[in-house]
Amino acid sequence: MAKAKTQYQCRECGALSSKWNGQCADCQAWNTLEEVAIAESPAGKARFEGYGGNAKVTLASDISLDEAPRSTTGLSELDRVLGGGLVAGSVTLLGGDPGIGKSTLLVQCIAFLSQHCKTLYITGEESLQQVSARAQRLELPQTALRLLAETRVEQIINVLAKEKPQVLVIDSIQTMYTDTLNSAPGAVAQVRESAARLVRYAKHTGTSIFLVGHVTKEGALAGPRVLEHMVDTVLYFEGDPGNRFRVIRAVKNRFGAVNELGVFAMTERGLQVVKNPSAIFLSRHPEPVSGSVIMVTREGTRPMLVEAQALVDEGGSHPRRITLGLEQNRLAMLLAVMHRHAGIAMFDQDVYVNVVGGVRISETAADLPVLLAALSSFRDRPLPNDLVVFGEIGLAGEVRPVPNGEERLTEAAKHGFKRAIVASRNVPKSKNPDFRVDGIDRLSQALDLID
Ligand code: TYD
Ligand code: MG
Repeated sequence: MAKAKTQYQCRECGALSSKWNGQCADCQAWNTLEEVAIAESPAGKARFEGYGGNAKVTLASDISLDEAPRSTTGLSELDRVLGGGLVAGSVTLLGGDPGIGKSTLLVQCIAFLSQHCKTLYITGEESLQQVSARAQRLELPQTALRLLAETRVEQIINVLAKEKPQVLVIDSIQTMYTDTLNSAPGAVAQVRESAARLVRYAKHTGTSIFLVGHVTKEGALAGPRVLEHMVDTVLYFEGDPGNRFRVIRAVKNRFGAVNELGVFAMTERGLQVVKNPSAIFLSRHPEPVSGSVIMVTREGTRPMLVEAQALVDEGGSHPRRITLGLEQNRLAMLLAVMHRHAGIAMFDQDVYVNVVGGVRISETAADLPVLLAALSSFRDRPLPNDLVVFGEIGLAGEVRPVPNGEERLTEAAKHGFKRAIVASRNVPKSKNPDFRVDGIDRLSQALDLID
């Protein structure tokens, strides 16, 4: 038998080397060599020839556009982030901090699905007793809930070939390893190769797979990031484990809207869907407080009311700009715009901005509310608590409209808000006598309105 060979490939330039080196001999990059799997030559050759023989070009017009069948996961908010249910043959990566609820969510989902189709939950982290005890505590249907404790991918594929489940959970991909590589489970190469094999299996057989991936504290390395391009859907848990609410965001979705949010509450009975999450990210102060502004964001396909809070306090020689749930550089840019175009200087102030509820806002509609929150805190003057704000701010001090303005305003009105400050092109044509909408074109106009 041929000796198993190991090869190393440079992450940057793709050069192969038979030895590991600190520096790539080709592109001179440091610490970029990673172990890769090499297909054994006879099998590799046969596969190559077989592949070449079967390839067939198809006309786009001949391809059937029937929607892939979807099944409900029993959790409406999970269906929503998946784009309307679980697609047969899709591979979904569910990432998040340890302890945020990934295993809980998937055991609930798979227990529900097991009543309708053949499922398998493969755990590499917890023992079968632990998984079963959790299912019991959550009072999930267990009679068809099939479990397997295994971490070797070759063994898993053998079992799958026999069992032929339609839906499969791998918890977690970081614990899986394949014999073709010598590196330890959890190493980038192992995570990537194990996932690649499972993805190939899913595509070949039409099995739906959920892969659990821990986000490591050090960031992207060896975390789920390296798998994002391989899978169909990438879901991440957001929010801090201390908060009762859990938000799942679709970061990538070949079968649905990206940035779609699903909202859950962690209870003693596991994760429960939050039916109307629009107003849970508000702290509802009895009296108006300075530094708080309600904005209407639309992440994915649904508008949500979210509270932005700012604290502006005298800083030292190196004033701080700290954000939670927003991009920090964007805050620095917005403060510069406010200085230049509205004459309000905060360069000697520390500015902290937080989005209530641990949700992360990625859209620019948060620009205007964030600046108004900072200004309100700076002047210690509260804004009316029946006001909502949204709008993007440009470097020239202009306020730009955001998509779906009317839908956002309707949502605010539904929750009892009476006033809005938005870009003038977001002001609806039809007037609502109970809801006053002020349209502005420049940041300075917003300051006049709230004075
Ligand atoms: P878990 O699903 O094990 O997290 P992950 O797989 O992402 O690491 O979640 C565990 C946390 O959830 C743990 O801190 C306890 C909490 N939890 C509840 O509050 N209620 C429950 O019903 C369950 C099962 C867990
Ligand atoms: Mg877990």
